Amino acid sequence: MKENRADRKIKTINLNETGSWTDIRQFMMSLPKEQILHSENVKKYMEIFANIMQYAELENASEIEEEYLFYGRSAYYHDIGKSMVPGEILTKPDRLSAGEYRIIQKHTVYARELFYQVDFGIITGMPHALFHLAKEAAVYHHEWWNGKGYPYGLRGEKIPFFARATALCDAYDAMTSNRSYREEGTHEYVCQKMKCNAGIQFDPKLAQIFLSHEELFHKENEKIKLSQLQIAGI
Ligand SMILES: [Fe+2]
Repeated sequence: MKENRADRKIKTINLNETGSWTDIRQFMMSLPKEQILHSENVKKYMEIFANIMQYAELENASEIEEEYLFYGRSAYYHDIGKSMVPGEILTKPDRLSAGEYRIIQKHTVYARELFYQVDFGIITGMPHALFHLAKEAAVYHHEWWNGKGYPYGLRGEKIPFFARATALCDAYDAMTSNRSYREEGTHEYVCQKMKCNAGIQFDPKLAQIFLSHEELFHKENEKIKLSQLQIAGI
């Protein structure tokens, strides 16, 4: 039987196990502190990357020109689907089991459901100008250029452009940040890793643009680390 719009609406409401939340900010703020900091960092890196991409003579230059001012704030939402992942898995201090990892991976499809609800007006608070980009980032930022990512195994330019750009900022912050189960990587080490993964995980052209301006990300990374030390009172 063909699913109509009303059925879809009911299904998405039921998928929202977060009770009475109706504002996108409630979903963001429910994330663990470490996750919110990560989202803020990805926003900062994306603001830098947006400025670089604007002058990079990419094929979609006119689209970038129109939208680049929204890139940072849209990338901020890339992990919003994690608000539907049990907190004990998100904050688990040890390495995740295979089953837990599969649950974490669902944050991309949870995001898709969440954005359906935004589209239907069930969840409010998402600035209209950000909707399209934020959705692309949240649903597709774990797709890999070689087709071995998730949730859909999309390959190459089938992956939305903004998600390919977000993947770089996401990986840079994740790898340069301390996690309870592993030490942070140095800027040089992380850049080397990203270079090795260009054409595998990352869009090779975007990775090359990112890495040819690596000093800008390094500078921001040092600023972020300094402010975290100041917050911690060290
Ligand atoms: Fe993610």
